[in-house]
Amino acid sequence: MAVIPTNAPARDVVDYLREQENKSLLRFLTCGSVDDGKSTLIGRLLYDTKLIFEDQLAALERDSRKHGTTGDDIDFALLVDGLEAEREQGITIDVAYRFFATDRRKFIVADTPGHEEYTRNMATGASTADLAVVLVDARQGILRQTRRHSYIASLLGIRHIVLAVNKIDLVGYDRAVFDTIVADFRAFAGDLGFATIQPIPLSARHGDNVTRRSENTPWYNGPHLLEHLETVPVEQAYREKPFRFPVQYVSRPDLDFRGFAGQVASGSVAVGDMVTVAKSGQSTRIKEIVTQDGALDRAVEGQAVTLVLEDQLEVSRGNMLVAPDDRPNVADQFQAHVIWFDANPMIPGRNYILRTETDSVETTVTALKYEVDVNTFAHLAAKALHMNGVGVCNFATRAPLAFDSYAANRITGNFVLIDRMTNRTVGAGMIDFALRRAENVHWQAMEVDRKARAALKHQQAAVVWFTGLSGSGKSTVANRLEKLLHSKGRHTYMLDGDNVRHGLNKDLGFTDEDRVENIRRVAEVARLMADAGLIVLVSFISPFRSERQLARDLMVDGEFIEVFVDTPIEECARRDPKGLYKKAMRGELANFTGISSPYEAPENPELHLETVGTDPDELAIRIDTLLESRMGS
Ligand code: ADX
Repeated sequence: MAVIPTNAPARDVVDYLREQENKSLLRFLTCGSVDDGKSTLIGRLLYDTKLIFEDQLAALERDSRKHGTTGDDIDFALLVDGLEAEREQGITIDVAYRFFATDRRKFIVADTPGHEEYTRNMATGASTADLAVVLVDARQGILRQTRRHSYIASLLGIRHIVLAVNKIDLVGYDRAVFDTIVADFRAFAGDLGFATIQPIPLSARHGDNVTRRSENTPWYNGPHLLEHLETVPVEQAYREKPFRFPVQYVSRPDLDFRGFAGQVASGSVAVGDMVTVAKSGQSTRIKEIVTQDGALDRAVEGQAVTLVLEDQLEVSRGNMLVAPDDRPNVADQFQAHVIWFDANPMIPGRNYILRTETDSVETTVTALKYEVDVNTFAHLAAKALHMNGVGVCNFATRAPLAFDSYAANRITGNFVLIDRMTNRTVGAGMIDFALRRAENVHWQAMEVDRKARAALKHQQAAVVWFTGLSGSGKSTVANRLEKLLHSKGRHTYMLDGDNVRHGLNKDLGFTDEDRVENIRRVAEVARLMADAGLIVLVSFISPFRSERQLARDLMVDGEFIEVFVDTPIEECARRDPKGLYKKAMRGELANFTGISSPYEAPENPELHLETVGTDPDELAIRIDTLLESRMGS
């Protein structure tokens, strides 16, 4: 049994690593419900394989007395639950990776948490795993969480499952209990496409069937856990697959050298091989393969290298160098499975940042085709995807993306979604396929362009976007502004929430999802009108920052003018021009902005108008002055 001593001299580590190089590597993770004993199991594995050092052991005994939940025994979970915060809560909240090795194989284990809201860590910890140890408490059997995690494991492409029926000691090592759980599991996991499912009755706490066969389960003839982990066949991952090299950065230390740095995601490449730039389709040969330890003839999957090409082709970060005869998709629309793990739901029409291994691009979900019920795997109709939800969506990206299907390649087929407002990672995606429609819809070149249209009207196009509570005075000010502009011979058009909702958007109500779609459509219409050379006045509550940002991004730089019509809600309720506040306060109007639905005030509007005590005409003049100053510039 070997181990990397953290304080060992560097040479020992090098020798040790060399020794390990020829062993196969198994990446696995543990999952299950919060109390199923995942950390205890990993702690037990490490402890029994003597992978703990004397000093760590002493600390563990000390800590067990202080924090442990197991009385006088050593609490193995403490070994894995490294973070102080976790100890205090008594749960594991982050992914911890452990490396260990036996004489037969080396292992990387991701200890993923079991709390409902921690699907995030499961999704991020599992994306490279070969095998999942699904823990089940023998006393509880298969739970919702077991199903969810198993389903996610299958989505993430994990091919091998160990069904670890833990705490078997607490049911008196009863074979019938074990058999029932195994049958239950097989009944639902049968459709998930796992290559192997190995059930093992064990006790992480007492060590039964973890690293040695237990005498307490004479009825069990299968392998113990470590034995199975050492022998389960894992595919020689991606070496046989087509060459994929997502470019991390362009390395240009001096004028004579230009290389593309990254990690080989799949396949291999040799000096002299032809490669193609995925997005442009240009091809050339590999001139050199450079690493920190000198030049190589060939680079294989997993290696971090810098590739030098024979011709100076344009390849920037996010692009891929690929096998010329087996190329990835390059498209801006595709279908993907999405795992959502943020408290704010995923809403179709909303704008997110989509990040792949090396690329990053704005995206919207153009359709949520269905949500998957993780218990029954039924397809459900859904308008939004909530925390821990799994759904199938169509995506459109602002620029084309180079990708494979996740089924073909787990590295070049996966992405995460980032919330543009909070910068949080809110979802993980697995691409199914490119959408054909994207290939067949092209921009039509136009001879008369937007500039020409505006010039004919002797003006510059603009979108004046009024946002504010219902009754804040948006429409009043917008009306005055339009009158003023009209009198000066400007060509204008007014889009007003109440009016557009009678026509184009009459199918939409006031849920968050519908408001997102409402604003998305209006922003697109405003863009077309600005393209036509008009000064467009848009008067919508538009309560969410995210969609106002989307509208801004749709317009040409400088053309979008956000006007925050700021009236305190008390004043809006006092004015109450349509009697809606009274209704809302009586509880007769659901999702009313400011009362039962949020309003996110602008942070940096071009104009911030406080309406109380100011004449609307005066406010209109202020907007006109801003417009005039832009025209002059
Ligand atoms: S938005 O939130 O989607 O931008 P929009 O501006 O189109 O709203 O429509 C707001 C108008 O719809 C309000 O001025 C009001 O007259 C009416 N309305 C009806 N129900 C609601 C509601 N629940 N919340 C807000 N406005 C409502």
